[in-house]
Amino acid sequence: MRIDRVLAGVLAATLPCLSPAQQDTQKEIERYRQMLQESNPAELYEARGEELWKTRRGPRNASLERCDLGLGPGVVKGAYVRLPRYFADTGRVQDLESRLATCMVTLQGFTPEEARRKPFSGTGAPMITTDPFSGVGQRSVMTDLVAWIASESRGMTIAPSVSHPKERLAYQAGERLFYYRAGPYDFGCVTCHGEEGKRIRLQNLPKMTNAKDAQRAFGTWPGYRVSEGELRSMQWRMWECVRQMRFPELEFASDASIALITYLAKQAEGGTFDAPAIKR
Ligand code: HEC
Repeated sequence: MRIDRVLAGVLAATLPCLSPAQQDTQKEIERYRQMLQESNPAELYEARGEELWKTRRGPRNASLERCDLGLGPGVVKGAYVRLPRYFADTGRVQDLESRLATCMVTLQGFTPEEARRKPFSGTGAPMITTDPFSGVGQRSVMTDLVAWIASESRGMTIAPSVSHPKERLAYQAGERLFYYRAGPYDFGCVTCHGEEGKRIRLQNLPKMTNAKDAQRAFGTWPGYRVSEGELRSMQWRMWECVRQMRFPELEFASDASIALITYLAKQAEGGTFDAPAIKR
């Protein structure tokens, strides 16, 4: 695709500026991020996602246009900043991905396994290669949809719902998980995200109990990760951090993943949603 090539040029031109010898690498990354924001490759994913939302797929040859993301069938604008939330038809608290999986089953006729088969794009993530139902080659239909739907909440206030008892339960479970330490290194989320100004190598680690940090962290996912050349969702971020903790693999769209995201969304409440963003 032409834009891909233009972008590759931009990257080639800017990357050498990011020498680790730089006095303040973080500042440089920030500058670089701003430079790229205007031509964020996430737009390609968003465009594909919008198309996929309207595309008839699956055994029922139906689109997702009647999918209820919490604001009524087919309402996409503002849906992301209200998620995760409780859905009466499934009796579960769901984030965007698990809700999309539900709609792929109920509207399009996929099996639950097919709907969740390829949650993430590209390499470095669990995936099955070409799958006529849920993925096209390295691409993930799920990721493309997430990119577009999230983009339809850009500029809006993060306002997850925590009024239903199951939403409160998910929040509490997420909080417990956040502080739970285990595994070979006795890590918990709190180990890396519980202190101000903590870093791993060159990366700033947001303190999730600090509203400003949490708002920025939550409000910038999904994001296009330059280091991977892929758009990544919040589900991926959870999967990757859990992997870093050397915990058993976090199951895609599982209650545990949704609980963590519910906790983070609530910590970020009141912040402005600004995603898909561009990430290092
Ligand atoms: C071993 C350290 C470590 C642990 C433990 C860890 N993370 Fe992370 N986390 C990271 C790193 C590194 C990044 C990426 C920072 C970057 O790329 O700028 C990150 C990024 C994130 C982000 C995105 C922040 C942003 O601003 O883009 C979120 C959200 C997050 N982690 C949540 C969690 C949660 C929830 C847990 C527990 C399940 C967890 N992390 C456990 C190291 C960790």
